[in-house]
Amino acid sequence: MYKINDNYQKLPGSYLFSTIGKKVNAYSAANPDKKIIRLGIGDVTQPLAPAIIEAMHKAVDEMGCAETFHGYAPDLGYDFLRNAIVKNDYQARGCDITADEIFVSDGAKSDSGNIQEIFAENNRIAVCDPVYPVYVDSNVMAGRTGTYDPKTEMWSDVIYMPCTMENNFVPEFPKETPDMIYLCLPNNPTGTTITRAQLQSWVDYANKVGAVIIYDAAYEAYISEENVAHSIYECEGARTCAIELKSFSKNAGFTGVRLGYTVVPKELKCGGVSLNAMWARRHGTKFNGAPYIVQRAGEAVYSDAGKAQLKEQVAYYMKNAATIKDGLAKAGYTVFGGVNAPYIWLKTPDQMTSWEFFDYLLENANIVGTPGSGFGPSGEGYFRLTAFGSYENTLAALERIQKL
Ligand code: MLT
Repeated sequence: MYKINDNYQKLPGSYLFSTIGKKVNAYSAANPDKKIIRLGIGDVTQPLAPAIIEAMHKAVDEMGCAETFHGYAPDLGYDFLRNAIVKNDYQARGCDITADEIFVSDGAKSDSGNIQEIFAENNRIAVCDPVYPVYVDSNVMAGRTGTYDPKTEMWSDVIYMPCTMENNFVPEFPKETPDMIYLCLPNNPTGTTITRAQLQSWVDYANKVGAVIIYDAAYEAYISEENVAHSIYECEGARTCAIELKSFSKNAGFTGVRLGYTVVPKELKCGGVSLNAMWARRHGTKFNGAPYIVQRAGEAVYSDAGKAQLKEQVAYYMKNAATIKDGLAKAGYTVFGGVNAPYIWLKTPDQMTSWEFFDYLLENANIVGTPGSGFGPSGEGYFRLTAFGSYENTLAALERIQKL
């Protein structure tokens, strides 16, 4: 008789954004006349930039011709893309990263869920609280998290690092020593970040205690302040303790195209075993390469035209962020984030719980946001709005909120 992976049985409810999707669909079906504005999941709304479309068209034509057709992609990514990544995302920032340390994938969500596979089951993970749910859920599935307490909404073997307005959303070194530390900066969901010097102290800490940092830099393109690092490899010593995850979803609108990459430096070793070699083995075995057309699209992100067009796209979303932040502040809300990230994190009014405010906003303003408690217990009493909507919808949403 076969047995299932019992760890899945421990997972409470469904994935956060699936739960929200179901709730919104039910409301929409019951109220077909309501025009719902979706500022919940961080999904982009602007079309792909012309330079990217052009590169994709060209690649499609190549696929239709025997001489230029491409079958399986190299499992770790095409050199043209890995080289463009190294040159633009690392060397241009003085980071010492080489092409054979870049692993191209179908997105940072898969990588952030899969990376835990190369670590032992008894490693102790530390996460910021609130946190992008994939980090915790994927470790639950792997059996690394103990049991779930529905009262505290915490897992017994997970180290939580609360990030609230009381500590300016800056995680503090935990009392217990973790083996794997997940950091997402600029942060999803709070939209806040830490300085380069603060990040350096995390790198120093990880090297000191022998922990690995899984660093999710998906929102790096939204950094506007000088003293914030765009990559963890800007910090001294990061090559011996950090893996970096990058996405093309937020900087280039690839949420529906799917492309990302993971950086595993060759100096990252555990007892002499190279994590770069382990991830290459895992990737080669379980992944057959991102599509040629998509990797050409990714290369176009780094062309002069692509860079200029995407700078405008990021600015468009950041104008939304400023609009939401200022508008909410004027309406009397306490707001955070939105300066180095496309998320606004607000305190729910009148002591409402996050889910109460979710229902209130959906029913009274027909706006969808994301309840803070969905990201972890310290998210209770907070709420996330995304700047990825259209400008028109963002303005309309603010007007509705201001009238409440
Ligand atoms: C979010 O809304 O938190 C993100 O869109 C989720 C993701 O990028 O997978």
